[in-house]
Amino acid sequence: MDFCYIEDVGRFEGKKVTVKGWLYNKRSKGKIHFLLVRDGTGVIQCVMTKDEVADDIFNAYDLLTQESSLEVVGRVRQDQRAPGGYELNLEDLKIIQIAQDYPITPKPHGAPFLFEHRHLYLRSTRPHAIMKVRNELIWAIRKFFYENNFVLIDSPILTGAIGETAATLFETKYFDLGKAYLAQTGQLYLEAACTAFGKVYCFGPTFRAEKSKTRRHLTEFWMVEAEEAYYDNEQNMELQEDLSVFIVDWVLDNCKEELKILERDTSKLENVKNPFPRISYDEAVGRLKKAGSKIEWGADFGGDEETILSKMFDRPVFVYDYPKKARAFYMKPHPTRDDVVLCADLLAPEGYGEIIGGSQRNDDYDSLVQRIKEENLPLDAYKWFLDLRKYGSVPHSGFGLGVERTVTWICGLSHIRESIPFPRTIYRLYP
Ligand code: 4AD
Ligand code: MG
Repeated sequence: MDFCYIEDVGRFEGKKVTVKGWLYNKRSKGKIHFLLVRDGTGVIQCVMTKDEVADDIFNAYDLLTQESSLEVVGRVRQDQRAPGGYELNLEDLKIIQIAQDYPITPKPHGAPFLFEHRHLYLRSTRPHAIMKVRNELIWAIRKFFYENNFVLIDSPILTGAIGETAATLFETKYFDLGKAYLAQTGQLYLEAACTAFGKVYCFGPTFRAEKSKTRRHLTEFWMVEAEEAYYDNEQNMELQEDLSVFIVDWVLDNCKEELKILERDTSKLENVKNPFPRISYDEAVGRLKKAGSKIEWGADFGGDEETILSKMFDRPVFVYDYPKKARAFYMKPHPTRDDVVLCADLLAPEGYGEIIGGSQRNDDYDSLVQRIKEENLPLDAYKWFLDLRKYGSVPHSGFGLGVERTVTWICGLSHIRESIPFPRTIYRLYP
């Protein structure tokens, strides 16, 4: 007799199998008991009749509570009406542990309660579906980079140089060396790596001590970043486009069931084809003003502006050439304008907003030194970074895609906290 996962029962039709899992739900018609058992890969209905099983097994039904762990033995039977298409004719049952008063009952609960119980809530249908999409999406990202000959270069989490902005750093004491920061980005290290390998990427957790309480901000999130030697900002955008189309297609192909559970309107995702529209920051400001926004030229866009802009298009849109003073120190100045830099944000449609930030990098030693000084960053910590502009400096570009923002968009979620197993926000460090 084989132990099998519920997702594989179809291969054992007519055969006896053991399924090991948890009780999802149960109901009875007196002489027939139905147990819904889940094992992480699926849910299967197990049927037992009084005449066919021993009394102690039949009576075990009464003891079983929601989320009790159990092993069941039964014969696999095809049944069109059953969820998943198969049922188990139960012959034997072993209780592993009886759960007492499982807090997440089938009745509706509020978000604060569910996130206080995130360690249990992950078992429920909706978060389960979202995590399966996240799993596929991350796989698609890695597949894309591998197939396009990018080399994975893991960047450090403990860093000495500020990657983005001093305003949102998590600091920690670091032995005799003073302070270390949790990485806001792996970019600076990737810039070094791309001179060694050409095309590189990193994928890891990043940290921002942002006091934002929005639906789009976490203090810890996962970012995939790419860096490409000899790419300009235009080629960088084409790469982002290809990556975005690839992951959307992959999720559409591989997460049909999950997207159905999430009631995602997949026709919106099917629009995601290249080329994506591109508008300059200047044009974006014009469009925003026309739409009634109070934005003034020079300010960075926040969630509100991005929402308005992203609703103007049926697919992701690039906004390029932002004002220098609104952007990080490392971006390349525009060749003919000194007020903007060569960069682009990719805004996801349906109001979701920024999912990727990217730019061409400043590859000129002197002007980069000047920018570091202007931003009051400690020049010493960037000595190695400036070396890259001394020894074979080349034009290069890169970008970072926020995994949670992307999952939130693709799943059609209304809050980013649902897109990560254990969200970290300014209000949440538990569980
Ligand atoms: O635009 P950001 O800050 O860009 C960088 O960090 C660059 N160094 C990337 C690069 O060029 N290599 O962040 C990149 C992406 C954003 O577009 C967004 O998707 C996500 O990271 N992100 C966040 N996601 C969740 N919570 C936050 N607080 C986020 N901040 C940024
Ligand atoms: Mg950004």
